[in-house]
Amino acid sequence: MEHKITASNVNLFYGQKQALFGVNINFKDKTVTALIGPSGCGKSSFLRCLNRMNDTIITCKIDGTILLDGTNIYDQNLDLVLLRARVGMVFQKPNPFPKSIYENVAYGPRIHGLFNKKSELDLIVEQSLTRAGIWHEVKDRLHEQASALSGGQQQRLCIARTIAIQPEVILMDEPCSALDPIATAKIEELIDELKENFTIIIVTHSMQQAARVSDMTAFFNMGKIVEFDTTDKIFTNPSNQQTQDYITGRFG
Ligand SMILES: Nc1ncnc2c1ncn2[C@@H]1O[C@H](COP(=O)(O)OP(=O)(O)O)[C@@H](O)[C@H]1O
Ligand SMILES: [Mg+2]
Repeated sequence: MEHKITASNVNLFYGQKQALFGVNINFKDKTVTALIGPSGCGKSSFLRCLNRMNDTIITCKIDGTILLDGTNIYDQNLDLVLLRARVGMVFQKPNPFPKSIYENVAYGPRIHGLFNKKSELDLIVEQSLTRAGIWHEVKDRLHEQASALSGGQQQRLCIARTIAIQPEVILMDEPCSALDPIATAKIEELIDELKENFTIIIVTHSMQQAARVSDMTAFFNMGKIVEFDTTDKIFTNPSNQQTQDYITGRFG
């Protein structure tokens, strides 16, 4: 089985403080993997390693190897703009640009020169909004400010913006934590559809969400992966006592 991303022996430090310890994990192509574990265990830190978002944190140092389709993403010659186009990210709080709905989605394709004519850009915008499950809600108001949308719509817009540049991997860091249950359900349905085309890695503090949306689950604790297996196995018959305690709410 081909792995889209292979992380080997990843250690991460913020100054003197070590936040990840020898993390080994592989992500299968076109699969949803959930990263779960208690607050502060290193889920976001690890997720940010996968598209080098930690590069912006001056104190942060990483060692180990992370391969994307066999290529080391920490190679000095790597094009970071291209990496972040291949490995897109959706954040905890919806963060649309202070622009129109249309321009939010058109922005990436413009930067990456993904079209020749305006009609092609229009098509990319429509297709991205359609795949993000929000086209019908916004098609008559494309030139309104994105900030006029509800939180759940803004998050789907951010997903459309990510999809528009045709990433291979989508990282999501607690993408529903600022949303109500109905908006959350829509995003979860969407994740299920998106995995046909994308490799998705999602951090979630909700075990129910992990169980609903993911194929594979990694349980992190104190900067280490305690257990990584199929979601079914993790939630019904985990091998590790710590995993068992966590999923049954007896952790602490
Ligand atoms: N920018 C940062 N600078 C210093 N320490 C950080 C930074 N970001 C996270 N940490 C620390 O690293 C550890 C893991 O944090 P994080 O990856 O955010 O965990 P999680 O996403 O699982 O809640 C925590 O102890 C946190 O305080
Ligand atoms: Mg986090």
